[in-house]
Amino acid sequence: MKHTINIYLSIQEEKNLIKRVKKAVIPAAGLGTRFLPATKAMPKEMLPIVDKPTIQYIIEEAVESGIEDILIVTGKGKRAIEDHFDSVPELEQTLIEKGKSEFLKLVEETTNINIHFIRQSKPMGLGHAVLQAKAFVGDEPFVVMLGDDIVQAEIPCTKQLIEQYNKTEGSIIGVQSVSNDVTHRYGIVDLHASIDDGLHQVDSFVEKPEPGTEPSNLAILGRYLFTPQIFDFLETQVPGTGGEIQLTDAITRLNEIQRVFAYEFIGKRYDVGEKLGFIQTTLEFALRREDLKEDVWKLVKEIYEENLMMSNNQ
Ligand code: UTP
Repeated sequence: MKHTINIYLSIQEEKNLIKRVKKAVIPAAGLGTRFLPATKAMPKEMLPIVDKPTIQYIIEEAVESGIEDILIVTGKGKRAIEDHFDSVPELEQTLIEKGKSEFLKLVEETTNINIHFIRQSKPMGLGHAVLQAKAFVGDEPFVVMLGDDIVQAEIPCTKQLIEQYNKTEGSIIGVQSVSNDVTHRYGIVDLHASIDDGLHQVDSFVEKPEPGTEPSNLAILGRYLFTPQIFDFLETQVPGTGGEIQLTDAITRLNEIQRVFAYEFIGKRYDVGEKLGFIQTTLEFALRREDLKEDVWKLVKEIYEENLMMSNNQ
């Protein structure tokens, strides 16, 4: 009997110790210089992939992963993001009157989510943007999701990270292998040891290593799960690469006192933060849509043939 009670108590204890991951932070205060002039007056996060702003794909992944509260870190010129997730009674009324229920449903989908906003006064780096979420997060584990990366996966990428956290209770950094010629564009992990399928212990994290000096090919790709201790390091983090407060530097310091894991998530990741990736994503997503795929495919073939003919005539 005593033994049974002890087991029961330890299960309860465990339940209390492992806090459920319910909060997500989406930093969206960057300048979006790679998309100028489009981003001069419009947030990069509002650029649409087919007919949905990129940030909405991220929010959908969060909701599908069981996240209940989302904080978007915005900055100057980002009002359109707040407006997008606000209700527009006049538009909704017009759609009702015109019987356009399919569009009404699409509009309503953007307002049924718990979204909060905070401003980063100056774009001082990703680490500084995440630090703005300290009061929102409190004493809970949370995820950070970057809008530059959209992941198509059977199990949502963020949910995969949460599953790893439930096993390890440590911070989990989402990574995937990238080719040698692009490692200098990412935060790269220096592995310590592999402990499970796709799950690794990490020695250090290097932000944008010089070509040829990268410790591995595993790049940090826009999905992080942190214990709240990350804030202790963000608060004291000095500017690093590019004079910005780098999240990667704070993760390296967190790893010195508390195990941080890298997890190779499963799914296809699209880089919508740079032009070619954005075009590829638009095309692939359009080709997956039942209402568009036939026409888009026809268009692609026509463009291809026209260009082939032109280059043969040159
Ligand atoms: P990026 O380095 O991709 O910067 O930031 P960016 O401004 O969005 O784009 P480019 O490089 O100028 O074209 C990665 C993520 O961190 C956010 C960005 O919004 C993006 O989601 N970020 C970056 C901030 O929220 N604040 C910052 O100070 C810097």
